Amino acid sequence: MTAKIIDGEAVATRIREQIAEATDTMEREHGFRPGLATVLVGENPASEQYVRMKRNRCKKVGIESFGHELPADATQEEVEGLVRQLGADPKVHGILVQLPLPGHLDEEAVLGAIPLHKDVDGFHPINIGRLAMKGRDPLFVPCTPAGAMILLEEAGATFDGAEAVVLGRSNIVGMPAAMLLIHRNATVTVCHSRTKDLPGVCRRADILIAAVGRAQMVKADWVKPGAFVIDVGSNKIDDPTSERGYRWVGDVDFDEVKEVAGAITPSPGGVGPMTIAGLLQNTLRAAQIAIERGEKPV
Ligand code: GUN
Repeated sequence: MTAKIIDGEAVATRIREQIAEATDTMEREHGFRPGLATVLVGENPASEQYVRMKRNRCKKVGIESFGHELPADATQEEVEGLVRQLGADPKVHGILVQLPLPGHLDEEAVLGAIPLHKDVDGFHPINIGRLAMKGRDPLFVPCTPAGAMILLEEAGATFDGAEAVVLGRSNIVGMPAAMLLIHRNATVTVCHSRTKDLPGVCRRADILIAAVGRAQMVKADWVKPGAFVIDVGSNKIDDPTSERGYRWVGDVDFDEVKEVAGAITPSPGGVGPMTIAGLLQNTLRAAQIAIERGEKPV
């Protein structure tokens, strides 16, 4: 059996179209557009690329973007000061601090300085805390795991009572993905570098989310026939046959696994586009919250 390929780009395009309509409506009805501030500290080429992509996408859906760049040796006070200034700026509805921050900075304190109602990444300790608790709802959910859940729904996955395995326990993907699956009544196992018999644990999964950052680690014999496989990985590998000498692959060996899984996301073209779509959605929501709070840009 060959798996159904879950087209993240198509789903993300549909979401972006809805957002573009909503930002036009907001401007017509309220006289302003949603605004996203990005904060980039230091010179990490991958982070620079991500922030550029996020800002470009904002422009295309009618969200204003305000880029802020600080040098790699910026102090804790400078970074937190900027975040607090953006927190008080009525034109800024969402604040995104690109991670990872340089090692000398206290990430938790920086993220904690983002006002809850502007925390479009969903990384504020209170939003994450609410995500972890039964019967509580965060204002915002982290974009990548939220995107993974939308793709699972699109592919027709059943969550209730499903065995779900999350490979990876990062704050950005693995941990919040596990929380979201628990909220949907899946039985969740989170795997990491110390997990014994990783292939055996993964083989139990009706839903498998791979977010470890290891190129093509998940093989066909790790996957239960018919499982839903979501590949969050994006790894650059050497490829002498390609013009550039490299190519991007996921954490899942796509060619092998697609012969076993019931549905699978490609990488690139799966979760990646959904991450940015989720950020745009959260920024629109943040602007709607500002309207509800009676805040208007001056
Ligand atoms: N670094 C890697 N992924 C993300 C993300 O989703 N948001 C932020 N702020 N930084 C990241």
